[in-house]
Amino acid sequence: MTLVPPLVERIEAIGQRAGWRLSSESMTGRLLRTLAATKPGGRFLEVGAGIGVGSAWLLDGMDETSALTTLEVAPNVAAVCRDLLKHDSRVTVVTTDAGAWLEAYDGEPFDFAFVDTTVTKFDRRDLVLRHLRDGALFVADDLLPQEKWTEAHHPRVERFRREIMEEPDLVPTLVDWASGLVIAAHRRSS
Ligand SMILES: C[S@@+](CC[C@H](N)C(=O)[O-])C[C@H]1O[C@@H](n2cnc3c(N)ncnc32)[C@H](O)[C@@H]1O
Repeated sequence: MTLVPPLVERIEAIGQRAGWRLSSESMTGRLLRTLAATKPGGRFLEVGAGIGVGSAWLLDGMDETSALTTLEVAPNVAAVCRDLLKHDSRVTVVTTDAGAWLEAYDGEPFDFAFVDTTVTKFDRRDLVLRHLRDGALFVADDLLPQEKWTEAHHPRVERFRREIMEEPDLVPTLVDWASGLVIAAHRRSS
């Protein structure tokens, strides 16, 4: 297994040239890859595709029968992501507002969700939780303070860290590692 998949290196290089700074860091990516490999035949959801670094890590862990749907609201960003991942038939890049898409979604539940947008992570994670199968993994990052955060963002993350531990349908662990993560298993309480 390569330390960093060639596709990730390629997308990161393109991002660097374009000044794109929102991609997941490599430690998070490696963890995503490992967790993805625990779900053979899995249905994967990524909320907030960016230019595809997180997707590329997930795809490297997924088996050939798994499928990834990744949602991106910015049409130009989604177009770059779609182009960079077009060789892999397991992935579908959807240009959409994640909230609207999740509200309308009535397909099969997901086995894995990587939630990487502010609103869906901090305010409306119910929209993701309702689409998770029992035993599914819910992963979110950027939960440790970062210099680029605004004043208003700190209390939002603090609230998230409290609330996620009390979600009735999740069995969560906060992991203060890399950018700060939560890894949670979905277990319906009623
Ligand atoms: C942190 S970046 C994603 C990074 C990517 N997941 C990775 O691992 O490299 C967050 C992305 O979410 C997108 N985004 C923000 N709000 C969104 C929304 N409501 N629906 C879908 N995508 C959204 C942003 O345009 C941005 O590209």
